[in-house]
Amino acid sequence: MEKDIQSILISEEELKTKVQEVGDQITADYQGKEPIFVGVLKGCFIFMADLVRSVRVNCSMDFMAVSSYSGTTSTGAVKINKDLSEDICGRDVIIVEDILDSGVTLNYLKSYLMVRKPASIRIVTLMDKPARRKADVYADYSCFEIPDAFVVGYGLDYNEKYRNLPYIGVLRPEVYM
Ligand code: IMP
Ligand code: MG
Repeated sequence: MEKDIQSILISEEELKTKVQEVGDQITADYQGKEPIFVGVLKGCFIFMADLVRSVRVNCSMDFMAVSSYSGTTSTGAVKINKDLSEDICGRDVIIVEDILDSGVTLNYLKSYLMVRKPASIRIVTLMDKPARRKADVYADYSCFEIPDAFVVGYGLDYNEKYRNLPYIGVLRPEVYM
């Protein structure tokens, strides 16, 4: 498995330090509130598990699963494969994403959830690839800004593989070419 990785972009140690830092920021910003973390499956699962354990306010959690409609990504259409099970009306929602790339997914998701009248919606992303942004969406909390490379590990996959790598690595181009 490791032989498919060209280089380590973000080490386990760096992940740990930065995720704790962002968790502390969320703790400070949500004093007196009880946010609901909404994870976007599957990529969020490891990041979210670490993030929520670094947050020190009462909170709840829910998950969604989404995928892009093939061939129609330019329209911003996203398919909801699993919707929330909690009511978010009046709640402070924090969407948890693995990576903000074109922004199409999060842009759609944010407006989709806005209709349910939450008190607020913020976005926390592990990584941000600003170079590839198409939709007008930004992260309120971003752990790492990264260059335009395809990365895997710490929850992120290529064809469902490599999610279990404990670090963020750049995939060798031979693997997907
Ligand atoms: P977008 O922001 O709508 O373009 O899509 C973001 C989604 O694409 C992420 O949630 C990931 O699932 C996937 N994605 C984008 N870039 C990468 C990457 O470098 N590695 C793995 N998945 C990626
Ligand atoms: Mg994803």
